[in-house]
Order: sequence, then C-alpha cells, then structure tokens
Amino acid sequence: MKPSLEEMLRSSIRNIPDYPKPGVMFRDITTLLGNARAFRRAIDELVHPYAGSKIDKIAGIEARGFILGGAIAHQLSSGFVPIRKKGKLPHDTVRIAYSLEYGLDEMEMHKDAIEPGEKVILVDDLIATGGTAEAAAKLLRQMGADIVAACFVIDLPELGGRQKLEALGVPVRTLIEFE
Ligand code: PRP
Ligand code: ADE
Repeated sequence: MKPSLEEMLRSSIRNIPDYPKPGVMFRDITTLLGNARAFRRAIDELVHPYAGSKIDKIAGIEARGFILGGAIAHQLSSGFVPIRKKGKLPHDTVRIAYSLEYGLDEMEMHKDAIEPGEKVILVDDLIATGGTAEAAAKLLRQMGADIVAACFVIDLPELGGRQKLEALGVPVRTLIEFE
C-alpha cells in the first residue's frame, strides 16, 4: 500500500539528538532529499495549491531553502531569488538584522531581485521560532513583493513561527509537524 504523505515524510527525515547543541532535536532533511520519491512528493505537495497561478519568483532562504526553492521554481515556472547570510552576494543588496537564539545575524538579497508588485513564494525547510522567515518576509515586502505564501516542509508549532508570519499577513503552508 502507498504510504501516506505523513508516513513518507516522517520516515525520511532523520532526527539527530543534541545537534547543534545539547537539548535540540535536529530535524535533518538531507535524508528526505536523498530519497527520490520522498523529495518529489514533498515538492508536489508544497506546490499544488499554486499550480496554474502566476508566481513570478520563489525566494529561498539559505541554505536548505535553496534546494527546495529551486525545485519549486522549476515546477511553477518561476524565477528564483536567493536570500543569503550577509556578505555572500556580489551585487548591491538590501539587508535586515534578525534575532537568533543567541545574538543577532543579518541576511540580504540583491536590490534588483524583485520588481514591485511581483508575486513571490518564500521557501525554507523548517520554521521554528519564525525569526528567520519573518526577517526574509520583511525584506521582500521592503522590495515591494506581494508575498503569496511561505512554504516549509517542517513546522515546530510549539515555537510559534507560523503565528509570527500570519501576523504579518503571510499565509503559511507546512507539510509535517514535530514537537
Ligand atoms: C534553520 C532552518 C531555518 C531556520 C529556522 O536554519 O533551515 O532557516 O533554522 O529557525 P527559526 O524559525 O527559529 O528562525 P539555520 O539557522 O540552522 O541555518 P543554515 O540553513 O545555514 O543551517
Ligand atoms: N532550525 C531551528 N530548529 C531546528 C531543528 N530542530 N531542526 C532543524 N533545523 C532547525
């Protein structure tokens, strides 16, 4: 019998205790990416609400959002925009600071990556506190993007990230939850 989406995703994601620090259960999607059927199914499920809509750009958050976002962009015939940690992009950028568990970091995108009014889907592998995705959404809005949705394979609902994005008026799509 064909496994359910939930079964396929849950069994293809590797759980690594105490990484990157004690007490964290790291949800590792490299095993999902290495499983051709699970990878295809995850991408198909993420995109199906938007099939047939005109989505101008997929904005992928470094690093795993690049892999998923590239596949989604291909599927929806959209362009791809990388949102990177500071100092990695070669041309003029816009930058935003955001809080991580310890301290601050900054992310940036090219100034000319989005035209005002373009329809954009934001993509990453996982939403936890939502700090990363919230900053990316603010950067996209600053450039005039119309954010159609933010898509993630994994939601850690106890950390409240979904609510942070929804408070900005960004609809959130996720495929599987972990405690
Ligand atoms: C992970 C994940 C998200 C972010 C989510 O990336 O890929 O980008 O954490 O956490 P948040 O919702 O609490 O902001 P990480 O910071 O580990 O960076 P990496 O992609 O460079 O490994
Ligand atoms: N980013 C924040 N929390 C994470 C977790 N538990 N697994 C993978 N990436 C994460």
